[in-house]
Parts: sequence; structure tokens; C-alpha cells
Amino acid sequence: MSIGVIDLIRNRRSIRRFKRDFVRPEAIKVILDAGRWAPSAGNRQPWDFVVVSENEEKEPIAELYVEAYREEANDLLSRSDAEKLFKNPYEAKKRILSMLDLLRDQILKPPYLILVCADTELSRSYLFETGAAIQNMMLTASDMKLGACCIEIATTLLGEYFDKQKLKDALGIPPEIEVVALVPIGKPEVIPPRPGRKILRDFTHTEFYLEDKHDRDDTLY
Ligand SMILES: Cc1cc2nc3c(=O)[nH]c(=O)nc-3n(C[C@H](O)[C@H](O)[C@H](O)COP(=O)(O)O)c2cc1C
Repeated sequence: MSIGVIDLIRNRRSIRRFKRDFVRPEAIKVILDAGRWAPSAGNRQPWDFVVVSENEEKEPIAELYVEAYREEANDLLSRSDAEKLFKNPYEAKKRILSMLDLLRDQILKPPYLILVCADTELSRSYLFETGAAIQNMMLTASDMKLGACCIEIATTLLGEYFDKQKLKDALGIPPEIEVVALVPIGKPEVIPPRPGRKILRDFTHTEFYLEDKHDRDDTLY
């Protein structure tokens, strides 16, 4: 196995602070090309990528993003699942509300925003397929010393508050096309420290899910 790929995978970070610096359009083409080489069931390739670079288009998207986080924060303490979602919902609310300007800049400062969309009628597994395409694109960006981040709005809590119809109307996206994620791309201003990961032993099972002999001896079926 090539050492390069595992290093690239380990060293890619989600970038949330960008410089406003110019990025060559050719670099975006390479990133989109990486997306199209993702695997898809029956090779159906259900993705559509909308590349947004004009401030005029980015500004309303940034406001929808900020508004979604603001609504999420303001609704948090009244949710019955708040304790499940966050260890400390009070702190989470405070943290989100203190980050709104940073979140706006996460969309506005990088020169490109790729909306990763999917034709929901083309493939049942479009979320898997766009996820694979996004990872390909983020790794390729990282390899070119560009920053990217996956802001997924199809299944996340944020997605519950994001006015996706307004986004679709603003960009003329037809009904059968779902916006799965926003992926800002630009030169990183801050590369965050590597966040922790679980260790292999915590989620890898060899032969049996329950590896502890006593667990199995005490279990009839
Ligand atoms: C489904 C999904 C949704 C995410 N949503 C957001 C988001 O809304 N905002 C954000 O800044 N990062 C978002 N991220 C990035 C994660 O926070 C990030 O992957 C995680 O903290 C691990 O950090 P790393 O990617 O640098 O290893 C999301 C990632 C995934 C896969």
C-alpha cells in the first residue's frame, strides 16, 4: 500500500477558517473530477455539483447557514432529546450563539462553495454515494494544500433547521434534486489540531461481536 494515501487520510482536517485568497479554477476542476470517480451503486452517479463563487450568491447561503445554527441553538433547550444530542445543552447553546460570525465567514471567505446535490430518483443510496464523492473531494483539496469542510444538511440536526427550499429556489435547483452538503473550498487560515479518534480495539470485533468469553458463556443465544 502506498504510504501517501494513509498520510493524506490522517492529515486531512475540516477547515473552518479560510483566507480570502484566490484559488485557481483549475484546482476546483481537479476537485470535481475526484468527486466523479467515487463509487456508486450500478455506477448511477446520482450527484450534481453546483459551484458558487460570486459573493452575490454566497451571501444569502451564508445567511441561511447562520440562521439554521441560530434556530438550532434557540430551540435546543426545549427539545426532549437535548441531553442525548449534547453532553451539556446549555453550554452547546452558548457555544453555537458565540460562533455565528465565524460560521458566516466559513461560507463567505473561501472563494468557492460547492453544493453537493443528488438526484434522489436516480439512486436509492445517494447519501452513501455523495458521501464518498465528498471524501474524495476533501482529500484532493487537502493534497493541494487547500482547505475544505463537509457541512451536511440532509440528515443532521442542522439540516432540520436549514431552509433548504429557500436555498433551492435561490439557485434554481429542481424538486427531485436534494442538496446534501455545502463544501467550502479555499486556502486555510487556521488548520485545527488533529481531533481524537477512537482506538481500533474499541470498535473492531474479531470473529464474534462479543469477544469476552464470559459474555458468550452467559448468553444462551
Ligand atoms: C455528516 C457531517 C456533518 C458535518 N457538519 C459540519 C458542520 O455543520 N459544520 C462544520 O464546521 N463541520 C461539520 N462537519 C465536520 C466534522 O465536524 C469533522 O469531520 C469532525 O469534527 C472531525 O474532524 P476532522 O474532519 O478534522 O477529522 C461535518 C462532518 C460530517 C461527516
